[in-house]
Amino acid sequence: MQRKGIILAGGRGTRLHPLTIGLSKALLPVYDKPMIYYPLSVLMLAGIREIAIITTPEDQDLFQRVLGDGGHLGVSLTWIAQPSPDGLAQAYLLAEEFLDGAPSAMVLGDNLFFGNDLTERLARADANPGATVFACRVSDPERYGVVAFEGDRVTGIVEKPAVPPSNYAVTGIYFLPGDAPRRARDVQPSARGELEIVSLLEMYLEDGQLGVEKMGRGYAWFDAGTHASLLEAGTFVQALQDRQGLLIGAPEEIAHARGWMSDAQLREAAARYGKSGYGARIGASLEDRADRAGLPRLAA
Ligand code: G1P
Repeated sequence: MQRKGIILAGGRGTRLHPLTIGLSKALLPVYDKPMIYYPLSVLMLAGIREIAIITTPEDQDLFQRVLGDGGHLGVSLTWIAQPSPDGLAQAYLLAEEFLDGAPSAMVLGDNLFFGNDLTERLARADANPGATVFACRVSDPERYGVVAFEGDRVTGIVEKPAVPPSNYAVTGIYFLPGDAPRRARDVQPSARGELEIVSLLEMYLEDGQLGVEKMGRGYAWFDAGTHASLLEAGTFVQALQDRQGLLIGAPEEIAHARGWMSDAQLREAAARYGKSGYGARIGASLEDRADRAGLPRLAA
């Protein structure tokens, strides 16, 4: 079965108050585009076109104003409301009907990735019939789910440990098999009252079905969950885009490179963004074919 995508963009973003009082976190700007463009781009790089976006009921129409049904991006978007944010594993319960038995790739709405071979790693995760998490080396692992290793073998995943077993944080990309919604029903709320993704991942680990893609040197991963990390992410995107003249996290560019969007549609998309720098760069990417580094055309 074809893998389907989920973007979890619920939550109240309280750590970003007062920014998130009027606007959902995943709609805040990361330099030149709304944050949700980045996780959407990751799923599209993985070759996924059927995507459910989970938001709070109140924010859903704002998100829809930005992304619509996805048709203009060569993808199909399904909108799911999350009445209360009760943990990441809850996403699989909410998306059960949408997934309809298909394997999934979930990306958190506030996670931003950059790395040269990301597309290859996503393809590898897609080919793995078990579960795959992406772990990234960070200086502050205690803020995240952390992977414990024995050599290269994963022996455990611990949520926000006081004493981290490694420097590898579990990032917000989760490739899970088709049984994830069924397994999610067995997850019990944690001490903080949430259905933890880590509890779900532990089930796959116990069954010997959990793989890890390690992102070492040359990778940037941001979870734009605090004022400082939001600003850092924006500054990073600006620096890289300006230096290279290439876009990061541009769904239109990926759709076009994948053959999901024609030249004419890309021109239309660029025009829709008016006089913005983003629109201009989307348009320029047509002339820059040879150079759209890292965006190989997928076989149809
Ligand atoms: C969540 C997960 C954690 C993961 C992180 C990645 O944390 O629980 O395991 O490392 O996302 O962004 P939260 O953002 O809920 O603190």
